[in-house]
Amino acid sequence: MSEFFKKPLLDAQSLHKQFTVGKKPGLFAKAPKDWFRADRPVAKLHAVDDVTFTIGKGEVLGLVGESGCGKSTLVRLLTRLLDLTDGSIRLDGEEIGHLPAKGFGKSPYRPRIQMVFQDAGDSLNPRFTAFAAIADPIQRLKPLPRADLKLRVEALATMCGLPLELLGRFPHQLSGGQKARVGIARAIAVEPDLLILDEPTAALDVSVQVVILQLLEDLKKRLGMSYLFVSHDLNVVRLLCDRVMVMYLGRIVETGPAEEVFRNPAHPYTKALLSAIPHFDQVKGSGAPPVPRLRISGEPRSPIDPSPKVCRFYGRCPKGQDACTESMPLLHGVGLEHSAGHSVACHFPVSDTDRKTAAVSLIEDVA
Ligand SMILES: Nc1ncnc2c1ncn2[C@@H]1O[C@H](COP(=O)(O)OP(=O)(O)O)[C@@H](O)[C@H]1O
Ligand SMILES: [Mg+2]
Repeated sequence: MSEFFKKPLLDAQSLHKQFTVGKKPGLFAKAPKDWFRADRPVAKLHAVDDVTFTIGKGEVLGLVGESGCGKSTLVRLLTRLLDLTDGSIRLDGEEIGHLPAKGFGKSPYRPRIQMVFQDAGDSLNPRFTAFAAIADPIQRLKPLPRADLKLRVEALATMCGLPLELLGRFPHQLSGGQKARVGIARAIAVEPDLLILDEPTAALDVSVQVVILQLLEDLKKRLGMSYLFVSHDLNVVRLLCDRVMVMYLGRIVETGPAEEVFRNPAHPYTKALLSAIPHFDQVKGSGAPPVPRLRISGEPRSPIDPSPKVCRFYGRCPKGQDACTESMPLLHGVGLEHSAGHSVACHFPVSDTDRKTAAVSLIEDVA
């Protein structure tokens, strides 16, 4: 890891987000007498549970995990759209975790963290032209005189590969790829230090995805931003990320340099995720030994009031044993050379020898 990444831009410590769940009285139904009692027992859904990580300056951190594991909730905590239940978020050393989400729009930190949403179509205001959409964050956060604003929006559009003739169009008059470019131009308009991308290419065709990923890679080099790149597509994460975090039911189960995690996955869940990547050699039938597909069976555990002692993957994990129900596995270093910063939260991680032999060729074809 280079010196450049060592000073964290973002330092998130022990983040927790719990949602209160339970049957609420319907809009017109009479609430039971005890509904508003402060001591009424309510269930808590642990969407983000004790998550700690840093993002270095200029670093791209990938966050992967299946649907419902808490990726978007974590993103919403970091962008301060949601209040934390507990924990701390420092941006360049300044605590921003305690700032209420409600007033964060007006905070001086707002321009420094920007976001690109999953579905550019849904996140753009249908009544705003592409020009207005890109100009909007500038006018709100870093206002410019009219003539300068026009020049700035045009420069951003050009940087994002959006033809200037399209600036007068409304979202419904743009293609998916063009809308994604507007979403990105809008997010980088105020020159953020950290760009958070929540599955930014999930709604796009594969060919358009590639172009947008190239654009993001190019922008990162040009503007030196840090990215938190959220995706369930491991190939995409591998192409773009320096480091990766694997999330399962609200917890980080494995983290490390992307190349290292992809080559030597230590958590049974990561290993199963990686084995599900379509393998080019297998498709082509080139005679290369097939990579066995590890299927995860069983139902995920409930995130509602989970036991603090039972590993979240227990019940689906092929390595699960009694110890996995007796104490929650915490992240600890994986003892391989060349694996600095590689940690796993598992009592029975995939052994070094297993990893060296079984995970070898999962990646070669992606490059
Ligand atoms: N506002 C909310 N109220 C209650 N539960 C929520 C809320 N937002 C998300 N959740 C729950 O939190 C968990 C994580 O959701 P989410 O962060 O959207 O996952 P992901 O982005 O990984 O698909 C899910 O179980 C989801 O149902
Ligand atoms: Mg999501």
